[in-house]
Amino acid sequence: MSDRPEMFEDVDEIWMDGEFVDFEDANVHLLTHALHYGTGVFEGVRCYETEEGPAIFRWEEHLDRFYDSAEVYDIEIPFEKQELTEATEELIRREGLQSCYIRPIAFYGYGPLGLNPGKSPVQVGLAVWPWGAYLGEEALEDGVDVAVSSWRKYASSQIPTNAKTTGTYVNSVLASLEAKENGYTEAIVLNKEGNVAEGPGENIFLVRDGEIYTTGLAESILDGITRRTAIELAEERGYTVHDDATISRGELYTADELFFTGTAAEVTPIRSVDDNEIGAGTKGPVTDEIQTAFFDLVESGEREEWFRYV
Ligand SMILES: Cc1ncc(COP(=O)(O)O)c(C=O)c1O
Repeated sequence: MSDRPEMFEDVDEIWMDGEFVDFEDANVHLLTHALHYGTGVFEGVRCYETEEGPAIFRWEEHLDRFYDSAEVYDIEIPFEKQELTEATEELIRREGLQSCYIRPIAFYGYGPLGLNPGKSPVQVGLAVWPWGAYLGEEALEDGVDVAVSSWRKYASSQIPTNAKTTGTYVNSVLASLEAKENGYTEAIVLNKEGNVAEGPGENIFLVRDGEIYTTGLAESILDGITRRTAIELAEERGYTVHDDATISRGELYTADELFFTGTAAEVTPIRSVDDNEIGAGTKGPVTDEIQTAFFDLVESGEREEWFRYV
């Protein structure tokens, strides 16, 4: 098989525009509108292995965000939510996966080129593949070294930050490339005002004096579903969570603990920022508690309203 990237090596099929097609046939035309102008929206969802079988975590919330993102660009997804749900479940079953990452995508396809996508057809795809810890298994235990990026997060007055839009991820790509080139695992991006926004694909949490802070939705961040989960888990454990915080760069350096949340990154401790050790330079106790609660939850599938069993 193949010159395929390792992560896709065992993927047999992809769902595209209403049909299951062979992996090699899930192609688009060179003149696809989204390829030129970034006019697509997508999601990243995880399906976890539980005792009751594979369970998709917070699928409805992801699906809602997917349709909301599409609405921003007048992308009319030509499938009902129920159809995409059934197709995703069927795909996971066909691939025989116990756990996986799920990537729904909708975009303006091949039609007349020009900035107004009005006449381009909307194409929709769903792919699933096995995906372990995004920043590495070690990162979950030891934490990651991150750097504040010289690239700012675009403001929500320029491009809606609550939509998960393919084209806007060039901002994340730049931040991530810069961090890697300078020897860091991940970046933190500041917003236009110079306050902390988020990671290139993660929300950020700060712990100080036993209270938890995360940057507010008005700070040009994505309304992360793992962020919502972490807030809820923390509050249930008695923590005060400030979910509308404005955090300055300097406050990162003096935090007791910092951690990222995201579907891909799950709950990942941050052990240093710009070479400044955070706390003791290891996973802190609050981070550990939230991370443990998170993994206990997704591995048990116990809170039924948050899981869709495949
Ligand atoms: C820019 C950005 N922020 C935050 C997140 C975390 O969001 P979620 O927890 O919904 O995956 C993501 C990942 O989707 C992201 O791309």
